[in-house]
Amino acid sequence: MKRLTAEWVSNPVKVTAIFGTYRKVGVIDSAMDEVLLAAREAGAETTKIYLLDKHIEFCSNCRTCTQEAGREPGKCPIADDMRAILDEIKGSDAIVLASPMNFWTVTALMKRFIERLVCFAFRPRGALPRHSQTSEGSAGAHRPRGDL
Ligand SMILES: Cc1cc2nc3c(=O)[nH]c(=O)nc-3n(C[C@H](O)[C@H](O)[C@H](O)COP(=O)(O)O)c2cc1C
Repeated sequence: MKRLTAEWVSNPVKVTAIFGTYRKVGVIDSAMDEVLLAAREAGAETTKIYLLDKHIEFCSNCRTCTQEAGREPGKCPIADDMRAILDEIKGSDAIVLASPMNFWTVTALMKRFIERLVCFAFRPRGALPRHSQTSEGSAGAHRPRGDL
């Protein structure tokens, strides 16, 4: 996050809001308008992304994107709007996820998007879950049968 300095004025903080609502101009939209207005009043630039407008496929758990360590998101083989959204995230200083609560959790639209953020994880194929490793790093009797 950038500090509040003269450099910040010429190079404002960029805040990207990502919406999981099914209704534009609903409760979530108007609540977020207040948040984004406050951010703009503090000098930030704001952008809205409605997941409703985007083509986003389900994560297929192929793990292609989780094989490389590092801060960059791994490459997903699915060609859809996630690539452009990830570029927006990369160019942002802050992101805000905004979703109605539907059946005690975020909407299916938001959940599908969040699952695709697995590309920020490093989970090489064949890696064992931490809890099943011994101090020597092997799984011993707890070796799982498949790739979890
Ligand atoms: C299928 C469905 C499930 C919902 N489940 C909950 C819930 O568990 N808790 C809650 O407080 N509101 C629940 N709601 C209400 C919505 O969260 C609420 O109407 C919200 O304002 C919708 O956001 P929007 O105005 O941006 O569309 C549910 C609505 C729907 C359609």
